[in-house]
Amino acid sequence: LLAFFAPKLLAGRRLLVTAGPTFEAMDPVRGITNLSSGKMGFALARAAREAGAEVTLVAGPVHLTTPRGVRRVDVQSAQEMLVAVEQHIQDAGVFMATAAVADWRPAQQSGRKIKKDGSGQPPVLDFVENPDILATLARSARALEGALFCVGFSAESHDLLANATAKRARKGVPLLVGNIGPATFGRDDNALLLVDADGHRELPRASKRVLAQQLIAEVAARLPPLPS
Ligand code: CTP
Ligand code: CA
Repeated sequence: LLAFFAPKLLAGRRLLVTAGPTFEAMDPVRGITNLSSGKMGFALARAAREAGAEVTLVAGPVHLTTPRGVRRVDVQSAQEMLVAVEQHIQDAGVFMATAAVADWRPAQQSGRKIKKDGSGQPPVLDFVENPDILATLARSARALEGALFCVGFSAESHDLLANATAKRARKGVPLLVGNIGPATFGRDDNALLLVDADGHRELPRASKRVLAQQLIAEVAARLPPLPS
């Protein structure tokens, strides 16, 4: 009850979240993607909204309902996701990159369905690296002057702490959140490892909804005071 009357943690803040996978087309009917349900990002968008933030959710192809009160922008590819993020970031104070962005896309996109040519030889695909959305935002002027707080996420298969610590430095973000334990994709629960400049801390296994609320509180505690 007390919490109900307390000022909301993110009142007066704007927050942008990326969620889900991206889909990188090779022709009109095929492409590459990766396993991400988008659940963590959607849970974060909901928790941030409930904490009083104005929330924009940039989502790759997922099958989830938009949390109430959240503005949702749907995209397919990493390049489209970057454009949407840049369009909506203007006065956001927080950027949370939960999306599982495809690291590469087919170098060429055929306007027509690629057909078997009868030779039995598969087509050879070249790939190019996609833009790093999080690193791009973390290097932006507003992030560098402390007006945009960027949070990265990482799913590692091994050496979580070492990889997450290195990734935090490489991306240039103040907070990096790692998934603990295998196969969190699509599940409704998770456990998280928070890595920041002071070290690391665990958020023990809980539903993604509860973890999202805890994570929002962690982020809120790290934000500079709002200009009065
Ligand atoms: N990310 C991003 N744009 C990309 C790749 C990743 O915004 N092109 C973001 C993810 O949303 C996540 C963070 O960067 O918040 C870490 O993603 P991850 O895939 O773990 O890192 P990579 O730098 O791609 O390294 P690798 O996949 O090789 O481990
Ligand atoms: Ca990656």
